[in-house]
Amino acid sequence: MAEPRLDRRRLLRAAGGVGLSIPAAWLLAACEDGLAQQPVVAAPSVGPLTGSAELGQTGTVLHSQLVAPPQQFVRPLPLPPALSPVRRTATADHYAITARAGTAEILPGLETGIWGYDGTFPGPLFTSRRGKAVHVRLANELPVPVVRHLHGGHTPAASDGYPLDFVLPTAGFDGHVHPGGRVHRGSFEHVYPLPQRASLLWYHDHRMDFSGPQVWKGLVGLHVHRDEEEDALGLPSGDHELPLLVCDRSFGPSGELLYPSKDPSLRHEHGVTDAFSNGVLGDMVLVNGVHAPFHEVRQGTYRLRMAVASNARHYRFTLDPLPPEGEPFVMIGSDGGLMAAPAVVRSFLMAPAERVDVVVDFSSYAVGERVVLTNLSGAGGTVDVLEFRVTGPDDRPPWRPPERLSEVERLRPQDAVRTRRFVFSRVPTAAGPEFRIGHHTFGTHRVAAAPRHGDIEIWELTSDFAHPVHVHNVHFQVLDDDGPAAWKDVVSLSSNDAKRIITRFDSYRGRYILHCHNLEHEDMGMMANFDIT
Ligand code: C2O
Ligand code: CU
Repeated sequence: MAEPRLDRRRLLRAAGGVGLSIPAAWLLAACEDGLAQQPVVAAPSVGPLTGSAELGQTGTVLHSQLVAPPQQFVRPLPLPPALSPVRRTATADHYAITARAGTAEILPGLETGIWGYDGTFPGPLFTSRRGKAVHVRLANELPVPVVRHLHGGHTPAASDGYPLDFVLPTAGFDGHVHPGGRVHRGSFEHVYPLPQRASLLWYHDHRMDFSGPQVWKGLVGLHVHRDEEEDALGLPSGDHELPLLVCDRSFGPSGELLYPSKDPSLRHEHGVTDAFSNGVLGDMVLVNGVHAPFHEVRQGTYRLRMAVASNARHYRFTLDPLPPEGEPFVMIGSDGGLMAAPAVVRSFLMAPAERVDVVVDFSSYAVGERVVLTNLSGAGGTVDVLEFRVTGPDDRPPWRPPERLSEVERLRPQDAVRTRRFVFSRVPTAAGPEFRIGHHTFGTHRVAAAPRHGDIEIWELTSDFAHPVHVHNVHFQVLDDDGPAAWKDVVSLSSNDAKRIITRFDSYRGRYILHCHNLEHEDMGMMANFDIT
């Protein structure tokens, strides 16, 4: 059954051709040198990457201290159980969850302490349908404040998880609390009207200055939002639809999570030790909270709905071995749901917080074959992501992509009322590096933009080195991108990059943020307010 390992050089050469966030510089550099599996990022012009920076990644690898490398493909892929509402009405489903400490078996035979929603990592799966609201009451039994953000949601400002809108611990909190937000004691009910198209959303902690460590500890989960347009496509569903939350973590000798916080209590000083200021890279990749799991599939078509919940790591995914004929993936969707048309790809990049929806056809693989979802940008424990075991013929008809998937209005630059510029940069100061948007780190009262409701604007984003940029409350399109029309909420900037995004500010009015989704950068101030007026 053993196929030769795939030729990564060949793969990378063929990897172009889909317009979704594939920085050309990575591709070219990777093809020219002998390290084809590593996208190459130029050293940032503002200062050296410190510590053991992994080639091609913004950040530093935090090395696990396990006695032996964990065995791969010995644990089945867990699928997060869908949470049941505590109450349903005609217009809304009401849920209750609690942020609390728990344990998880991430590595075989080891118990890892985590902080999770309902004490699980990842948290429970939320499901919703367009036209019906979701209410989530979050109680906080952790020792620190939490903030819940539904990433990709079009959400009224008071429920969006603005970083200063703390839900304080039920037991009280005497650590540092940033002023300026809507503070809730013990619990808070979020209202998510979800008037938006079907997509894979995810939720995570967004506490001012401490998102990095709190997400790392496990405050993260998936949310599948559906609608009729998507239903009509008859996509692979049920056990042929797999929500996959991918992230990287590092572990101490007995399986405990490592993270280089300056103040591990997460009560006072924020930030990470200097060596990790560009980002924390775990050295083990997890899917749905388990390192290198396996999953049994039939010789049929499967829908993989992937979200990257890494603090800083970027990925390039492919299948190993490749199918004997054709390409492994039909890409059908991105952050904001279905694309206008499918795109056939051999591999695809994902930056932190991005989502990709792909259909894989296992029918050309033999029964008994093992097919690994592989990360071409990884090394060691971050290469093999998930092993599929082909167990037999499928009893369902295969899904074949139609020419058009979805109605995606393409926004036109000539309809934009203005262009704004945002420069993302790391600036060394006597007190350590500052991560800025424009000339500033985050200021509670500083407003970087105040678009009028309904206006279309172009935002030009430029970078010194890699920054995955996220805008709350709206979806945008990336201009100068020749893939099928798609809605995004994260755009991945590579080194010395410039990208233009275009959006119509027709969601809720109020104060929202844009920020870098490298969580270590975000925690060091790479965030800005914008007001939809
Ligand atoms: Cu995924 Cu501001 O967040
Ligand atoms: Cu950044």
